[in-house]
Formats: sequence, structure tokens, C-alpha cells
Amino acid sequence: MSLLKRLGGGGALPSNEPAVTVAPIPSMAAVAPLPQPQSPPPAHSSPPISAPPINAPSVGTGAISPPVISAPSADGTPPTDQQRILDLSLWCVDRIQASLGNQNDLKRSPETEKLLQERFARVYQQAGVTLPGELVKQLFTMVCDELMGFGPIQQLLNDDSVSEIMINGPNRVYVESKGKLRLTPARFASDEHVLKIIDRIIRPLGRRIDRKWPMVDARLPDGSRVNAIIAPCAIDGSTVTIRKFSKNKLKIDDLVRFGSMTPEMAEFLRACVVSRLNIVVSGGTGSGKTTLLNVLSNFIPEDERIVTIEDSAELQLAQDHVVRLEAKPAEVDGSGRVQIRDLVINSLRMRPERVVIGECRGGETLDMLQAMNTGHDGSLTTLHANTPRDALARMETMSMMAGMDLPLKVIRDQIAAAIDIIVQQSRLDDGQRKVTYITEVQGMEGETVVLQDIFKLEILGKSPEGKIQTEMRPTGVRPRFTPRLEAHGFKLPPSIFGAQIPGQKHR
Ligand SMILES: Nc1ncnc2c1ncn2[C@@H]1O[C@H](COP(=O)(O)OP(=O)(O)O)[C@@H](O)[C@H]1O
Ligand SMILES: [Mg+2]
Repeated sequence: MSLLKRLGGGGALPSNEPAVTVAPIPSMAAVAPLPQPQSPPPAHSSPPISAPPINAPSVGTGAISPPVISAPSADGTPPTDQQRILDLSLWCVDRIQASLGNQNDLKRSPETEKLLQERFARVYQQAGVTLPGELVKQLFTMVCDELMGFGPIQQLLNDDSVSEIMINGPNRVYVESKGKLRLTPARFASDEHVLKIIDRIIRPLGRRIDRKWPMVDARLPDGSRVNAIIAPCAIDGSTVTIRKFSKNKLKIDDLVRFGSMTPEMAEFLRACVVSRLNIVVSGGTGSGKTTLLNVLSNFIPEDERIVTIEDSAELQLAQDHVVRLEAKPAEVDGSGRVQIRDLVINSLRMRPERVVIGECRGGETLDMLQAMNTGHDGSLTTLHANTPRDALARMETMSMMAGMDLPLKVIRDQIAAAIDIIVQQSRLDDGQRKVTYITEVQGMEGETVVLQDIFKLEILGKSPEGKIQTEMRPTGVRPRFTPRLEAHGFKLPPSIFGAQIPGQKHR
């Protein structure tokens, strides 16, 4: 059963829907408003049906007339060019689909594109509108995206500068691009239209979403992660969040070039990874944790067997000897869930030399700490925390989620013994992503875990353009694990750690 049917239909935008305030698409802004279509030629096989109201476009309605382009929308505001072209594209889509025997989910291929080109030419003629060439091209792209892709967001998915796409109901599509959020001109015809795209994403995966369980996690064929939440839990319309899979993960050189860390910090981190230190990357959502974990994992020497464990495979390791494991959601009947924790336990029977855990979110933290303390050193993971001290607290809480009833002191001892360094990654207010701390976990002093910053980001101020000015500084303290680095052949010069050089001041 289709999603729309399961939801019992759905329909036009409510009449109190606010006016759309998105800017017109650039290519449209340059051309004259859409001309009035001639009345459509009566369809041979169907009785004449009047045009649908402008705000109830033809998604799944089987309407056969093109949208009346000059009609006001349901709330009385004149439709924008954007709305008109969207409505016209959906009208074309319905007709083309009908001509193809209502075949859904066309696979993108040169043959299909050719077929669509031919059908589109026919349908466009039936619409009786004359549009500038540029707009016809755009209309055809929209039709193709609707029939073979993910509709209004397909162009955003194609755009490599976009890292996240956020659909907040039909009229608001935001993207993150170069660290900044912005509203885009993309829009859907209705909530039903958004649901149709959600359905298209999750149906091939055998997942479902409905009023009973109105949220779902899924993945696009290219690896992008999708979360959708719909009514009744999403109050203002179906909401979809897509974290795009970056085809080209950033490399260490990129991070240095962007100023996310200094070359000295990069060299230090490489030494730490090769020397089998246990490293936690800590940071907020979207701060760049996974990116940094990927970079660090790529420092692992080629001759070591690596097992990676992730909720949804994002890491891209260049080494040859890598075993990738991924968690698995429950089946429809609720059984068969395989969690990160199960995979961590299993991985220890796989003769790993390195275990890389995409993110610790719960009880697996305790298993990881125990593994680190029983010979599986050199492990790497990320977790969600805002400072290195906060990362310790998170590890305590998550270890308790394992349900082993261990006293806090025991857990704390485990953390202090297992973790060697915490690398804090942050997204600054202006969108820059930076390593803000590299902190050594030195051990316990009484009840407290002792932390010592090795590198620290200082905020200096703001440029007139609003860019936050920072400086990365070594604290002048050599880590206690320096002998371990030296045992692996890393003789880092004292200047890396900011040993006082005459004429230069560090705090
Ligand atoms: N140091 C960086 N500089 C610029 N962009 C970055 C940096 N690190 C990550 N990004 C970008 O930020 C986005 C989120 O990164 P990701 O590593 O997935 O974050 P997290 O795992 O913390 O949620 C991605 O688009 C990624 O390419
Ligand atoms: Mg991540």
C-alpha cells in the first residue's frame, strides 16, 4: 500500500497557509512572467474536467487540465512564478505518468530520458503555453526530477556545495552550504507531495512511516542519511532532514588549509594514531567529528587490520585491510535489531588490530573502554559533547547505560585508564569548524580524572566581516605519553608543544 493511501489521503494546503516568501529561482527572475495558457485541448479519452485550484496541484489527484496560471491561490495571494511552474510541472508529470501506464519509479537512464523528452514535448504542446526556451528547459528538468529523482530537492542533492537539506513542510526548504544555513526557493506543492518523496525514499528499503509510527531513518542510494518525521508528531508539516554523503571526504591537508588545525597539531595527531593511543573525538552535531575521525583513521598504518563499526557507514578509509560493520534497525515486527553494542562485542572476536567506532551513543561505551583496557589499544571513536571535561561526563553516563551496575568510581577509573586523548571539534558561531582542544587524559587524582590541555584554540575577536579570529596555541606542556610516541619513532621537537622560544609568547 502506498504511503499516501496509508495516511488516508492528505490534501491541499490549508487555506490559512502563509504566503510563500521564497525568492524566485534566478533563471526565472530574469524572464517575463508566465504567459496565460490557452485552454487545454479536450482530452480525447477523458471527459473535460475543470482545472484544479491553484494550490491543490495534481499530485496524485489525477487532474487532467494544466493549472490555471492566473488564478489566485487559496489564500487570495497571487501565485508566484515559482508556484506556477511547479504546478505546471506536476500537471505534465501526471499526464506523462498516465501515458506510461502509471509506472512509478522510473530508473534514470539515457533511454528513459529520451522517452520522457518525447512524452514531455507532446504534453507541453497540450498545455498550450508558450514559455521562453530557458523556462521550458527548467520545466523539463523538474519533470525528470519528479519522475526519476526526488522531486524538488533533486537539484540540491546534485549540488556538491550543499551538505545538508532540511524540508520543513512543503514551503520551507533550507540547506547548509559552506557552513551556513539558508532558505532555498525549492518548494513542494503540498504536504502530500512531501509525503510522496518520503515514500519514494523509504519504499525501496522496505521501511514504513505512518500515523502510528510517524518517524523513520533511511538512506539514499548514494549513502546520504535521511530522517523523516510526519503528522501527528510533526506539527507544521512533514519534516525531512538529509545529511548528504560527501563523495570526497576532507583530507588532513584540507583541514590544515581551512585552518581547522595547525600543521603541528596534524603531525602530533598522526604520531598519536600511529603510536596506538586511544582517541576520542568530541563535538556537537555537525561539528566535523566524523570527518576528523575519518582523517585520523587514515593515519592507521597499512599493515594493521581495521574493523569499523557505524550506525550508518560514513567512514571512507584508504587502507586495504578494512572490515566495515553497520548496525541494523529492527524488522517490522520489532525483532532483529543489531546495535552498535552488539557489533563492538562481535568485533573483538574478529582479531582486530584497530577498532574504529563511528559514534558512541550508549552502553557500547563501556564495552569499548573494556576493550581498550584489555589489549585493544589504538581504538578511535567520537561522542557528542561540548568540551573535553563534558566528554568525560558523557562517557560516564553512557557507560551506565550498559546496565552493569558498576560504581561510578570504577567507571571513572576505566575511562582514565583507557582514554589517552580527547580531541574537541567545534563549529564556531560563524560556521568555521575547528579543533578547539587536544587534551591529554592523565589519570586519576582521588575521585577526579585529570585533564591536561596540550593545544587550545584562543578566540581573539571578530573581523569587520563577522569572521571569528582565532589562534591555535600549544599550552607549553609536553604530554606524559611522549615516551610512547618516541618508542614509535616520533621525536617531536619541543617547539611543537610550545616550549618557550625566545621572543615568542604563549599565554
Ligand atoms: N574542518 C572542517 N572544515 C570545513 N568543513 C568541515 C570540517 N569538518 C567537517 N566539515 C563539514 O561539516 C559537515 C559535517 O561534518 P561531520 O563530520 O559529518 O560532522 P559530525 O560528525 O560532527 O556531525 C560535513 O559537510 C563536512 O564536510
Ligand atoms: Mg557524525
